[in-house]
Amino acid sequence: MRKAEPNINSSAGQPHWPESILVVDFGAQYAQLIARRIRQAHVYSEIVPRTVTAAEIVAKSPRGIILSGGPQSVHVEGAPSIDKGIYELGIPILGICYGAQLLARDLGGEVAKSPVGEYGRTRLNRIQPSLLLGDLDDGTDVWMSHADEIILPPAGARVSASSPGARVAGFEDGDRGIYGVQFHPEVSHTPKGQTVLERFLYEVCKCKPSWTGESIIARSIEEVAKEVGAEGVICALSGGVDSSVAAVLVHEAVGDQLTCVFVDTGLLRAGEAQQVTGTFRNRFHIRLVSVDASERFFDALAGVVDPEEKRKVIGEMFIRVFEETAKAFDGARFLVQGTLYPDVVESGYGDTATIKSHHNVGGLPEDMGLDLVEPLRDLFKDEVREIGQRLGLPEEILWRQPFPGPGLAVRIVGEVTPERVEILRQADAIVDEEMIKAGVYRDLWQGFAVLLPTVRTVGVMGDRRSYAYPVVLRAVTSEDAMTADWARLPYDLLQRISTRIIGEVEGINRVLYDITSKPPSTIEWE
Ligand code: XMP
Repeated sequence: MRKAEPNINSSAGQPHWPESILVVDFGAQYAQLIARRIRQAHVYSEIVPRTVTAAEIVAKSPRGIILSGGPQSVHVEGAPSIDKGIYELGIPILGICYGAQLLARDLGGEVAKSPVGEYGRTRLNRIQPSLLLGDLDDGTDVWMSHADEIILPPAGARVSASSPGARVAGFEDGDRGIYGVQFHPEVSHTPKGQTVLERFLYEVCKCKPSWTGESIIARSIEEVAKEVGAEGVICALSGGVDSSVAAVLVHEAVGDQLTCVFVDTGLLRAGEAQQVTGTFRNRFHIRLVSVDASERFFDALAGVVDPEEKRKVIGEMFIRVFEETAKAFDGARFLVQGTLYPDVVESGYGDTATIKSHHNVGGLPEDMGLDLVEPLRDLFKDEVREIGQRLGLPEEILWRQPFPGPGLAVRIVGEVTPERVEILRQADAIVDEEMIKAGVYRDLWQGFAVLLPTVRTVGVMGDRRSYAYPVVLRAVTSEDAMTADWARLPYDLLQRISTRIIGEVEGINRVLYDITSKPPSTIEWE
């Protein structure tokens, strides 16, 4: 597949939105959180690497710059730094934690190792009036995480706040547009943090709240329409939130030039195929080709027990089926992909080449000769859900928990057969229903059943002896699937799930609960 031009958001590109804030990344998890908080205040923000040059920043003409926190110390050899020309651009800069220390170090202040460090909740002492901190109360709670301490602010800046472990917890120089806070305004443990960020956006940078669901949709539709022109577009629709929102957005832009292909692998959850095809055909009137390829998938999976081999077989079959189906749409020049902003950032700002392959169903092949349309590549997940809601997508799709491309196959330990999938599908549906009824569905990253068909244990049901399979319940909380914790589900919910599975699903006589986190275990069993 040819890569699309780095269309709208590469680090050296034109400004993507009339008003933007650039977040310079000194440690990805902090930068992404800051960018999300800014967008929640309806101002567009973009993350740029710390290697960004002053000239590149000028090309993007942002209203303000935020230097993020990061795990390092400004003292160590090779500590991350930035092009000092950025300080001379006259664009307001807010340094957060590491970013504030960098400003102090580079602009005539002083940073030293703190005798104690300061981690967690602490109280901010207000010292002088401040445009950034506004009427934040003296003694307000803030979240700190620093081993170094700013001793002197940048030359010419006033100290606006301190804390028990930081003589300089806030500083500013309104004339130069230099602001710094040692605490983390972006985290939820700083209750008034959002107010501080909003003051930077609205009072310091004079931004207007223009980044709204409505305007994001309008802009995306315009961009897709321009990019695609009169060409044909195809989309592999999985029914997950990303591909669904991407498809609807593209459809809004180019109407019947879009054809969606839905491959029923036979490895989907209960009712999923009907729900997806029904929604897209009846509610959105999107042209949808639905292919029931379950028999081909089961044939290919016969005798396969190795997890990696299973994934390979499924991935290859998916590509084959999709390609065969897409051939009927020879004229198509574009392929829709639901890439999100965190994937873009994590794979190196605008380079789509290294996106984690298993997140793109099947990893569609290069030689299809199609250009990518990626209408979500500027958006965070919460923004995708918001615009999906505005576009009229049903809750069941918008809030669906992630589901792996290889489907139920990676939740059956051992060979995958239609009978085993059917047993697991019934158990899985019960888990889903009960999680939704108990109101925990959205709090969990995922909750699902795993079938162990190579194990059989003895039970007694009624007055009969049973000898059947166990099912494992796996429920985890997570932010991003990189790490996860097993969910402390209420006992009575576990009880209901267990009772229903044993009572309603023939072939299962035991329910276990997986109490391992990731790491060391993965979320899926294969
Ligand atoms: P693991 O099991 O690696 O899973 O902890 C992390 C997250 O990724 C999902 N996952 C997949 N998603 N294709 C996908 O689209 C796959 O092959 C795949 N394997 C795992 C998994 O459900 C979890 O959310």
